Amino acid sequence: MIRVGIAGATGYTGAELIKLVTGHPGAELTAVTSQSYRGRAVQDIFPSMRNVVDLTCEALDVDALSQKIDCVFLALPHKVSMNYAPGFLKNNVKVIDLSADFRFHDATAYESAYQEHVAKDLLEQAVYGLSELYRDEIAATNLVGNPGCYPTSLLLPLLPLVRQKLVQTHGIISDSKSGVSGAGRAPALASHFCEVNESFKPYKVGNHRHVPEMEEVLSLGAREPVTITFVPHLLPLTRGMLSTIYATVTENTTGSMIRKSLLDQYGPDTFVRVLPQGEFPDIRNVRGTNFCDIGFHLDKKSGRIILVSAIDNLLKGAAGQAIQNMNIMFGMAEGMGLKLIQGAL
Ligand SMILES: NC(=O)c1ccc[n+]([C@@H]2O[C@H](COP(=O)([O-])OP(=O)(O)OC[C@H]3O[C@@H](n4cnc5c(N)ncnc54)[C@H](OP(=O)(O)O)[C@@H]3O)[C@@H](O)[C@H]2O)c1
Repeated sequence: MIRVGIAGATGYTGAELIKLVTGHPGAELTAVTSQSYRGRAVQDIFPSMRNVVDLTCEALDVDALSQKIDCVFLALPHKVSMNYAPGFLKNNVKVIDLSADFRFHDATAYESAYQEHVAKDLLEQAVYGLSELYRDEIAATNLVGNPGCYPTSLLLPLLPLVRQKLVQTHGIISDSKSGVSGAGRAPALASHFCEVNESFKPYKVGNHRHVPEMEEVLSLGAREPVTITFVPHLLPLTRGMLSTIYATVTENTTGSMIRKSLLDQYGPDTFVRVLPQGEFPDIRNVRGTNFCDIGFHLDKKSGRIILVSAIDNLLKGAAGQAIQNMNIMFGMAEGMGLKLIQGAL
């Protein structure tokens, strides 16, 4: 049994991790941390966990926690995780960070979107936790930078095509929509019920912090610089994310070449489902699951491919993929504890 700790257990992704680890046959939840709920029982904070989770929130004391865990999930805000990851690694605790702090190889790219990095020396050993695309590297590392939810929804369909040069690397557009839990649990005016309900709007147009992350991964995959136009939107849903991505195909690329590329990358035993021709993803089919559904249409007239992907932002976009990475890092079956279809219709 792997002994697991969750730092930031009272946030949305932290709560998902509590549920996933509690139901995982190869892991045991031995510690949860919180600043504002320190000393409070998890079941008092989340009444749905009554009679199931018997733990109390403690302080984020790296040395004390390291005595009772083999693996820690840092479900903390950006700029916070990097202060704690080095201590856990020094104590031989494997780290899966859900923030952006270890998603970049290039510290300058991180710093352009966030702030000065205080653990730059770890960026070289950190592996980008897009499970299906970096499986071997994830298996060999002690530090995973779990991808952002928008990057997961864009990179899963696009990265295989970019790697194989089936699409051009300029002029890529992603029109992406997220449920409100993507913004985390801390209250903010923009995510109040009345601000979001029965409406739909773009936000952070031209300056979303996920853009440098996506461009770095795509550029490494293409072995040349890739820039994208990315427009996020807020959906009046609690959870779920859908991206519609437009790219121009390279000369002689056909629809069957695109399908083959995706199917070669994502076999039937992965969490990425390439839908039959003519079918497109629907958020309700992935909500409460760790799946990413992908559909596409090649518009021969314009030479553009339209890729559509859907994920649950809290699962494949965060906690589910983080558990998938834990499974890979500890040599367990990749899908252990993740065969969830309860939330889907
Ligand atoms: N929400 C998503 O869909 C999603 C998807 C992908 C990635 N992520 C990333 O995952 C991370 C967690 O996201 P979330 O949505 O779960 O956020 P959240 O709901 O705001 O939760 C953040 C957690 O961090 C704790 N925390 C806040 N400031 C802290 C500090 N200075 N020191 C220690 N603990 C602190 C909070 O706990 P207390 O106040 O109880 O201490 C809370 O438990 C973020 O980096 C986010 O960008 C989120």
